[in-house]
Amino acid sequence: MAEIVIVPSPADAGALVADEIVRLIAERPDTVLGLATGSTPLPVYEALRSRVEGLDVSRVRGFALDEYVGIDPNHPESYRSVITREVVEPLGLNPDLIHTPNGALETISHAGEDYERAIAEAGGIDLQILGIGTSGHIGFNEPGSSFASRTRVKTLIEQTRKDNARFFDRVEDVPMHCITQGLGTILGAKHLVLLAFGEGKAAAVAGAVEGPVTSSLPGSAIQLHPHVTVVVDEAAASQLAHADYYRYVAANKPAWQGL
Ligand code: F6R
Repeated sequence: MAEIVIVPSPADAGALVADEIVRLIAERPDTVLGLATGSTPLPVYEALRSRVEGLDVSRVRGFALDEYVGIDPNHPESYRSVITREVVEPLGLNPDLIHTPNGALETISHAGEDYERAIAEAGGIDLQILGIGTSGHIGFNEPGSSFASRTRVKTLIEQTRKDNARFFDRVEDVPMHCITQGLGTILGAKHLVLLAFGEGKAAAVAGAVEGPVTSSLPGSAIQLHPHVTVVVDEAAASQLAHADYYRYVAANKPAWQGL
C-alpha cells in the first residue's frame, strides 16, 4: 500500500518532499529526479530553493514527465520553459542534464523511444514527482492508457485542455497532443511521490489510492508500485475512506522509516 500523508497545507507538502529530495542529493549528487509540471509540484520547487543553498546540485539529473506536441520550446508554457523557469534556474541546476520529451513535429515519430533510451542510460529515475489530473491521469496518460505504456504521443481529453486553459489565452490554444512518459515508464521509477491539493482532486485521489486498479483511472497504477508516497492536503483527502487509518499510521511511524 502507498503511504498516505495528510498535511495541513501545500507548503507543508512541499517542505516534506523537498527534505527527501535534499537527502537524496546529499547521498548521491547525480540523483535522477522525475519532474512534474503544472501547479501541484510548485510548493516542492519553492521549498527546494532555500534548501539547496550550500548543496552541490551541479550533477543532478532530471526528466520531465511530458511536453506538448508542436509547441515552440520557447513558448512560455512549453514544459521545457516551465521546467527551466521553475526548477533549473532557481535551483541552479545544469540545464544540459535536465531533459524534457521532444515535442518537435519533425522528430516526433521516434521522440518517445529516444526519451526512453535517455532515461535508461541515466540508470532510471530515483524519485518521480507526480500530480494527478481531475481525469485521474498521471503524466498525460489519460483514461484508457495501458499500464505497460512507454513514452509516446497521446491526445489530451477535452477536460484536461480546459483545466490547462488557465496557462494559455484561450482553451483553443492548449495543444491537442502531448508526448508523455507512459504508465510503464512511471512505474519504473524507484520512488513515486504523488501530490494533490484541493477538493477538485479528491475524487481522483480516492480512486487512485483506494479504488480498483483500472486503466479507466490511470493514477490507480500507483497501487502496483512497491514504494509510493501520496502527500495530500485535507481537501484532497476528503473522499478517502481510510483517512483515519492513514493519520494513525503517520502518527505512529517508526523513526527509522524514511519517506
Ligand atoms: C504535469 C502532468 C500532469 C499534472 C496534472 C495536474 O507534468 O503530467 O499529470 O500533474 O495535470 O495538474 P495540476 O498540478 O496543474 O493540477
